[in-house]
Amino acid sequence: MDLKYEDVKQKLQAIKEIRVHYPIFSAILANMERCLEESVDLAEPLCMIITGDTGVGKSTIIKTMSDRHPSIKTSEEVNTPVLVASVPLPATIGALYTSILTALGAPFPDRGKIEYKRLRLFELLKRCNVRLIILDEFQHLVERGTRQRIETVADAIKSLINQTALPFILVGMPAACAVLEYSPQLAGRFPLSAEIPLFDWLEQPTSFERLLNCFEKALPFAKPSGFGDETMPARFYLATGGNFRSFTTLIRDASRSALMQDCARIEREHLIRSFNTLLAANRRLRANPFQESNTAIERWIYQLRRNQ
Ligand SMILES: Nc1ncnc2c1ncn2[C@@H]1O[C@H](COP(=O)(O)OP(=O)(O)OP(=O)(O)O)[C@@H](O)[C@H]1O
Ligand SMILES: [Mg+2]
Repeated sequence: MDLKYEDVKQKLQAIKEIRVHYPIFSAILANMERCLEESVDLAEPLCMIITGDTGVGKSTIIKTMSDRHPSIKTSEEVNTPVLVASVPLPATIGALYTSILTALGAPFPDRGKIEYKRLRLFELLKRCNVRLIILDEFQHLVERGTRQRIETVADAIKSLINQTALPFILVGMPAACAVLEYSPQLAGRFPLSAEIPLFDWLEQPTSFERLLNCFEKALPFAKPSGFGDETMPARFYLATGGNFRSFTTLIRDASRSALMQDCARIEREHLIRSFNTLLAANRRLRANPFQESNTAIERWIYQLRRNQ
């Protein structure tokens, strides 16, 4: 393969692996660790619910937690301290069991009736020495559900917690909270909760600027790209709405262009193009924030603040 392309590919991979431990991220991880470590000493396991809109970084936190506690296989046993499963669609209790069985590496995870799956699940959780179960995309089990259906889900989770005596962390879009709202019995088992917000540069400029700074430092370019300069934080905020996925989409694409052109940093033109091709259709702004003059950006921000 072309040597230059190989180098660009490696750098892009490194950019994909950048993980920023911003304060809320670290606080949530610390509470996830509490669920794992403290539950063994408690009468009832310590459970947690984490919610946030699409793209705020929920699955990234889960991945960070499971990377910290990887599954280890020896010839005698399997140790999977942190088990991560994703709630599938269409979401039924049977499908949930299947996805946990899949995460446990069970052969033919879909086999059998619901009771058979449940028993198999308990056996495998023990055999794999699972100490914490994280369920991602939990809103699939409750969104658009009737009250009765949500109560059924809550009951199933409650008996899973009771019978396994393991802590659960439920993660999903804000609708996931319905499971606790409809079941006070379950809510009592989830004393820890966290909501991951969008970065709000208007209200908390420093946390967004720190994120920009962290990312810029981690990028594999010879020169700094100036993300913190003058109106740049405002431009990034307008372009992404403070959403992590929009931010990384923009940076990864702009980095690719800069690397392909052998540039020493990401230039404004790269950001202009990446915004136009990848974010403009969804953001539907009145202009490309990277293309406007400083005065136009200041006016734009002034109007935003006034309309708040
Ligand atoms: N702390 C972080 N550091 C670096 N990149 C991050 C971080 N959090 C999220 N990202 C990036 O933002 C993007 C979206 O993150 P993620 O998939 O975790 O969001 P999500 O909340 O799970 O979204 P969805 O609800 O759509 O599943 C990913 O590309 C991820 O790499
Ligand atoms: Mg996700």
